[in-house]
Amino acid sequence: MNYPIEYQVVEQPSMQSNLLRTILSLRIGRRKIDSVPEGFMLVKMVMAPFNPSDIAFLQGSYNVKKALPAVPGFEGAGIVVAMGKGLESEWLGRKVACFAGSDGDGTWAEYLLAKPNQVLAIDESLSWEQAATFLVNPFTAHAMFALAIDAGIGCIALNAAGSRVAEWMRAFANRNKLETINIVRKAEVKDQLINRGVKNVLVSNDEHFAEELQRIAHDLDCRMAFDALGGIPGGQMLNAMPRNSRLIVYGGLSNQPLGEVDVLGLIFKGKKVEGFDLNQWWAKSSMADKQLVAAEIAELIHDGSVLNQISQIVDLKDVASGLRHYLGHMSEGKVLLRM
Ligand SMILES: NC(=O)c1ccc[n+]([C@@H]2O[C@H](COP(=O)([O-])OP(=O)(O)OC[C@H]3O[C@@H](n4cnc5c(N)ncnc54)[C@H](OP(=O)(O)O)[C@@H]3O)[C@@H](O)[C@H]2O)c1
Repeated sequence: MNYPIEYQVVEQPSMQSNLLRTILSLRIGRRKIDSVPEGFMLVKMVMAPFNPSDIAFLQGSYNVKKALPAVPGFEGAGIVVAMGKGLESEWLGRKVACFAGSDGDGTWAEYLLAKPNQVLAIDESLSWEQAATFLVNPFTAHAMFALAIDAGIGCIALNAAGSRVAEWMRAFANRNKLETINIVRKAEVKDQLINRGVKNVLVSNDEHFAEELQRIAHDLDCRMAFDALGGIPGGQMLNAMPRNSRLIVYGGLSNQPLGEVDVLGLIFKGKKVEGFDLNQWWAKSSMADKQLVAAEIAELIHDGSVLNQISQIVDLKDVASGLRHYLGHMSEGKVLLRM
């Protein structure tokens, strides 16, 4: 490599009062690297997606906060092009999926400095689109699905069921012959899922939604629900479920505290509320475990069991229009930045 390396990043200069203003304030910034620090590798980024955690970060409502101006983006994929002292040379030239650290610049950039625990070497045959979305959602779904397997249950309930996490949860459920209950907020998303063969799809604002959810959850003895929303929808799921059900809260897309949980259910019916955080799973799992999960995920992609949809790919300079498209069409699939 010829140093210094100068490159472009997406830069968030300020935290505006509303999300749209923040998005419109995003600009192209420049960074310079004089050398790769010891213990780091330099990844030449190829693509990076927009995820709900990125939106929360832009709004200042995520648990990771960085000094402004900040480079957003928690996930992406690229090629390792240089390494600092102390790292094995076998990384060089590898296609990797990567996380951004909780400090330092994010993945919406032409280069990322990453430590080995932030990257996973992946199957060279995966497309860049699949590589860039390989870590956050598939691994979250895999780790959460393991909770259902450990509990030995036969059915799981999912809200925000048009999401990528839900798509992956259904792929694992199909593979392991578990039923799923799928809750969406738009009739057109219900139709899309049904057209793809998904069963038990409910629309949350239908008139008899709560009764229908209760009926189907009891019929299928569905005792584990995964909540991406928080607010009333999360509480509603747990209330509708049979005795000894668990609600695993893993997202807060409603931007509301978990609401309307029936306290009698918690006290007298053995119901429980828990949280799930991929970062904690990642930190405690060995590289060998991660590679096993990665192999299973790659297999599901290759055999077509999962449709990891991509709705748009935009250049770095078009980050704002890409984000606006993503926010209006989340169930359509991921929007990716191309570096
Ligand atoms: N805890 C963790 O470690 C972890 C890790 C990964 C992901 N997550 C969480 O997983 C969830 C899904 O992420 P993803 O990347 O798979 O999502 P995604 O593919 O971008 O899709 C988001 C989905 O959420 C729906 N949605 C958004 N706001 C909603 C609202 N207020 N009410 C009802 N539905 C709403 C969208 O439906 P429409 O099409 O109707 O807008 C869309 O189906 C997010 O909550 C994310 O934060 C958590």
